[in-house]
Amino acid sequence: MQYRKIANSDLDVSAICLGSWVFGGDPCWGEAEDARSERVVAEALAGGINFIDTAPIYGSGRSEEVIGRAIKGKRDSVIIATKCGLEKKGHSIRPNLSAKFIREEIERSLRRLQVERVDLYQCHWPDPNTSVRETFGELNKLVTEGKIKHIGVSNFSREEVEKALRVAPIISNQVQYSLLSRDVEDGLMPYCKENDISILSYGSLGGGILTGKYKEPPPVKRGDVKDFFYRYYTEPYWSKAKEFVAVLRRIADGGNVPVSHVAIDWVTSHPEVASCIVGCRTPEQLKENVNASDWSLSDEELDLIEEGYRRIFVK
Ligand SMILES: NC(=O)c1ccc[n+]([C@@H]2O[C@H](COP(=O)([O-])OP(=O)(O)OC[C@H]3O[C@@H](n4cnc5c(N)ncnc54)[C@H](OP(=O)(O)O)[C@@H]3O)[C@@H](O)[C@H]2O)c1
Repeated sequence: MQYRKIANSDLDVSAICLGSWVFGGDPCWGEAEDARSERVVAEALAGGINFIDTAPIYGSGRSEEVIGRAIKGKRDSVIIATKCGLEKKGHSIRPNLSAKFIREEIERSLRRLQVERVDLYQCHWPDPNTSVRETFGELNKLVTEGKIKHIGVSNFSREEVEKALRVAPIISNQVQYSLLSRDVEDGLMPYCKENDISILSYGSLGGGILTGKYKEPPPVKRGDVKDFFYRYYTEPYWSKAKEFVAVLRRIADGGNVPVSHVAIDWVTSHPEVASCIVGCRTPEQLKENVNASDWSLSDEELDLIEEGYRRIFVK
């Protein structure tokens, strides 16, 4: 496993971070099994992963609770990232980065995770209805009080990061970044690089498609993560994604590695990315993904990927 420093911090994180949305058992991801999720965490730590990403919204706290149980007694060897600012009301979810809600959420997260401090506390999505001063002023207070160590953001645009930076020392921006989702390369990533803000990539496997496991598009129900979040599973996108995965498979076969390693290594080949967040539902998936950073794509392979991407997606 490789380890990288998150810019402007003392956090030395594994190049692969364990993502835990799927542990929540939300309808969009399908049922989770807590004992199995805890085994995934144990396998991750055994495989050299020291960085885990979660959020209170994942299963309304269930993902944080699973992680809290799984890391008990191992707190010192784990870097925990969680989030704040998404409020569930009935079936709808709205951003809420008010000081009052942040304060309530951090107390609940600390309790569920069974820790005294969160290492990286991230605003999950921007909240247009709360002032930046209120949100980041409150986060600064949490740092002073020792409840959180560092402040990060997620899904923030360049302009939103710029405003937040005027109030608080932001060290990371967690964004969707994968071989199928490259919008952030335009503007946001160069800005973060210039300002020493690390990128944490999510959806690095496009929700599973970049493992190469789908020969045919899987059934996609309304409200499924593949319907509203990772939209690569239906036409007109699916046919192109399938053609592109064939390019990745040829490279994977040449290196005798799974396709997921090509997808993960492509993300980590960007020095701006401190860690590539990878969701794993089962210990088997974890074991397949965890060694990805021990292998690396050559310049020639990176060129082949770029050529395939441009031919298929950029006409
Ligand atoms: N900040 C945000 O707004 C935000 C948004 C999304 C995600 N995230 C974070 O980023 C993490 C990663 O994203 P993600 O989990 O949504 O998507 P992802 O990492 O692209 O995909 C994860 C899914 O791919 C499948 N998979 C993984 N490895 C596999 C393997 N070796 N073989 C076969 N299938 C495999 C599993 O789903 P199946 O078993 O269902 O196939 C797994 O749950 C999340 O868990 C969360 O921590 C953050």
